[in-house]
Amino acid sequence: MRTRFIDACHRKPVDARPIWLMRQAGRYMSEYRKLRETYGILDLIKTPEMAVEVTMQPINAFDLDAAIIFADILPLLEGMGLNLEFIKGTGPLIDNPIRQAADIDKLHEPDPRESVAYTLKAITLARQVLKVPLIGFSGAPFTLACYAIEGGASRNFTRAKSLMYEQPKAWHQLMEKLSTLVGEYLFAQAEAGAQVLQLFDSWVGALSPDDYREYAMPYSAKAIRRAKESGCPVIHFGTNTSGMLPLIKEGGGDVIGVDWRIDISDARQILGPDVVIQGNLDPVQLYAPVSVLKDRVKTILDKMGDDPGYIFNLGHGLLPTTPVDHVAELIHFVHEYSSKAQGH
Ligand code: CP3
Repeated sequence: MRTRFIDACHRKPVDARPIWLMRQAGRYMSEYRKLRETYGILDLIKTPEMAVEVTMQPINAFDLDAAIIFADILPLLEGMGLNLEFIKGTGPLIDNPIRQAADIDKLHEPDPRESVAYTLKAITLARQVLKVPLIGFSGAPFTLACYAIEGGASRNFTRAKSLMYEQPKAWHQLMEKLSTLVGEYLFAQAEAGAQVLQLFDSWVGALSPDDYREYAMPYSAKAIRRAKESGCPVIHFGTNTSGMLPLIKEGGGDVIGVDWRIDISDARQILGPDVVIQGNLDPVQLYAPVSVLKDRVKTILDKMGDDPGYIFNLGHGLLPTTPVDHVAELIHFVHEYSSKAQGH
């Protein structure tokens, strides 16, 4: 087992910077597109053998330091009684979203060991074939609440935030239910074999810092506390969080995800030396000529110097039209350049 990713989560010395990429399995790979000609995304996720196959596609193609189980943040909502579909070209759709307090009372409180047993099974199977560590993940309560209330992607989250402001009691009740479920789901993934756990709070940057503190952070913190009982390192990821990194840190996690809207040296200064940082490359920089891409990567690696707590990643997921050869170049370059920088 190659452990430099887990070592970096614990701020232990590594021979080169570990790198993995959010959404490393997906449509930018022809192997994935081929499977999607026959199967829907939910078919792939809900058939453990196929989920393992997709998990392994980027691992077999590139020299990555970690795998992430092929799943999605949204199927967890199905067990609560919400109907989930992925519509070609538009993304996820929930046709019975939460619109009022009574809808929250009606939500089921499923055991993730039953409601998403397929992902737990996929984790156990993937561990049998992997030679790099496996990451399990969940959406964070706030990001899940946004989907559950909006019913799909949204620009300004007006429905979700309106419910939050107009019916705070109902909001807190929803977040209690979601945070219990998310914590239990992360813990169950560790039991099934996941070695590191990531909480995706992709849309949390839509909140002001004060609203984050009041309406979201306590619930992420609760889920992270439960996840930590497994003994696994936890990665706390969000985007558009540059204005509230100290609060994200307060929410918990051994590793904090940062996007590209902040200079990584500033992120280190704000976060302090005692957490690991993951991320920072703009996913669209992968579309740049390789020489430009390498220049940007070099800048990030130089800024992190011999800082013991850094995991290379993008600031958000890989985009579906990313040039696949640039992904290979990126991974190779991060290893090569950082092992030289560290004197190996
Ligand atoms: O990182 C990985 O390789 C693991 C797989 C993974 C997927 N979704 C597979 C997927 C992970 C970690 C996710 C997380 C996820 N899903 C998030 C949080 C991270 C982020 O990107 O912000 C969110 C918000 C979702 C919800 C979601 N799933 C949306 C909005 C969409 C549609 C948009 C799109 O890119 O098509 C999905 C679908 C989805 N989930 C795809 C993949 C590979 C594309 C599926 C396809 O059409 O084949």
